Amino acid sequence: MSTTGLRAGRRRVPPRASAMIEALRGLGYTSGTALADIIDNSISAGAGVVDVTFGWAGQDSWVSVLDDGVGMDDAELESAMRLGDKNPIHDRETTDLGRFGLGLKTASFSQCRRLTVSSWKNAEESVLRWDLDLLAAGDDGGWDLLESAAPGSETRVNVERSTETGTLVVWEILDRLVPKSSTEQDFLELIDRVERHLAMVFHRYLDGSGQDLLISINGKRIAPWDPFLASHPATWTSPPVSIETAYGVIRLQGHVLPHKDKLRAKELEQAAGPDGWTAQQGFYVYRNQRLLLAGSWLGLGKGRSWTKEESFRLARIRLDIPNSADADWKIDIRKSTARPPVAIRERIARLAEDIRDRARKVFAHRGKPLRRTSGDEVGQAWLAEHFLGGIRYRVQREHPAVKAVLEDAGDLSAQVVAMLRVLEETIPVQRIWLDTAEATETPRTGFADQPSEEVSGVLAVMYRNLVLRKGMSPSAAKRQLALTEPFNLHLDLVERLPDLVPEYGDSPSC
Ligand SMILES: Nc1ncnc2c1ncn2[C@@H]1O[C@H](COP(=O)(O)OP(=O)(O)OP(=O)(O)O)[C@@H](O)[C@H]1O
Ligand SMILES: [Mg+2]
Repeated sequence: MSTTGLRAGRRRVPPRASAMIEALRGLGYTSGTALADIIDNSISAGAGVVDVTFGWAGQDSWVSVLDDGVGMDDAELESAMRLGDKNPIHDRETTDLGRFGLGLKTASFSQCRRLTVSSWKNAEESVLRWDLDLLAAGDDGGWDLLESAAPGSETRVNVERSTETGTLVVWEILDRLVPKSSTEQDFLELIDRVERHLAMVFHRYLDGSGQDLLISINGKRIAPWDPFLASHPATWTSPPVSIETAYGVIRLQGHVLPHKDKLRAKELEQAAGPDGWTAQQGFYVYRNQRLLLAGSWLGLGKGRSWTKEESFRLARIRLDIPNSADADWKIDIRKSTARPPVAIRERIARLAEDIRDRARKVFAHRGKPLRRTSGDEVGQAWLAEHFLGGIRYRVQREHPAVKAVLEDAGDLSAQVVAMLRVLEETIPVQRIWLDTAEATETPRTGFADQPSEEVSGVLAVMYRNLVLRKGMSPSAAKRQLALTEPFNLHLDLVERLPDLVPEYGDSPSC
């Protein structure tokens, strides 16, 4: 077969439009990632305001994105509607969020069967539309782009324009976004999910620290979600690190979020993020301030890739890459994956290891200082004993409360030691682990939330023993108790202990 105008020995075999687009629908976008792709275009077009509208009308529901960016003239709009309108290997402006020349189409088709785009600039307005149902019905397999809003959709497309330039993207026939059995409640829940996703993906635009951007959904402004709780005084932040590479500078900064005891219930829930604490740990990869990946260990790790674990859930690392690094980082069309190139994996992993280690300590509450400002060690009741096969926990025999009993146990001493061993060998480690991991129930220690009489009662027994039986001076006994767990957390009660006279055989109450 020969095609007119084609050199001999060649055949032109363009893809069949309807089949091709149906296939592209399965790229794996969610409604949130698809809308983010549309908003990327608005940001690249310099928009300051993006209004997203979700209109519920059962099977006739629609979604639109209106921006005040630079807009497109007729030729530019036609080009924008073409699949693969730009070559991914060409350099882009440093602020451009695009790469493949596909997002507008692939993101839209993943959610709807009709995409209408209206754009205006230089006092001219153009409207073009892809309609998958009409493409499928056509028998020549061609790529027929339609030149106006679909009959009945005019009011959705010809909305009031309050800016000189701008673009409106309208999705209709939402077969993926609103499946047949969907209810209005499902639609509202979807809006909530999308809002959380956009608040996360564009938080560095929405918080005013970069290009100013205001995104609203059905008139409600989206507030940014900061994964790093940067303004919280208990958040630990590492110094920023820059890595020079052949394709630009990579920037990293580690964050260890506060232990849950340091957060109010609302803060704790907010900071968890759309997918919850454990899922949201790891690297946050940004490309031109736009979040690509929200929590991933990027396949790093020694030997075996790190997996997401409860104990590292407070670790979140910001990683910035420029769009010149797209190919090396294997950015995909959906802008939801990224893989660090081999040359810098080791360096990134080392930084991550340090952040993970710190995060684990804070999670296990070991971030709490066990030294007082004076530099004196605090006597702990439990010690972690590391050995070749792992770790075990031992009651510290030198703790004053334990020591006192062991010294005075007499005939019972073997039984007391046996009792301690039984307790040590039966610590409900798994149980404590689970309770600690679940955000709602924090196992309480150190007499937390208990009446001060209860603490004073136990404190008084120990104090009496130190002064009246061991002959310690009251001030020395108080000093020791102030440096002994858990009384180091109740210094006011230690200070209020009455001065006793050290006298053997006497036992006044205190
Ligand atoms: N809202 C908009 N305002 C102005 N121009 C736009 C808008 N949306 C799309 N365009 C133009 O259409 C082109 C194609 O957009 P599309 O999202 O399909 O690809 P891309 O953004 O170039 O790359 P990617 O596939 O990575 O998103 C853009 O490069 C841009 O020039
Ligand atoms: Mg795009």
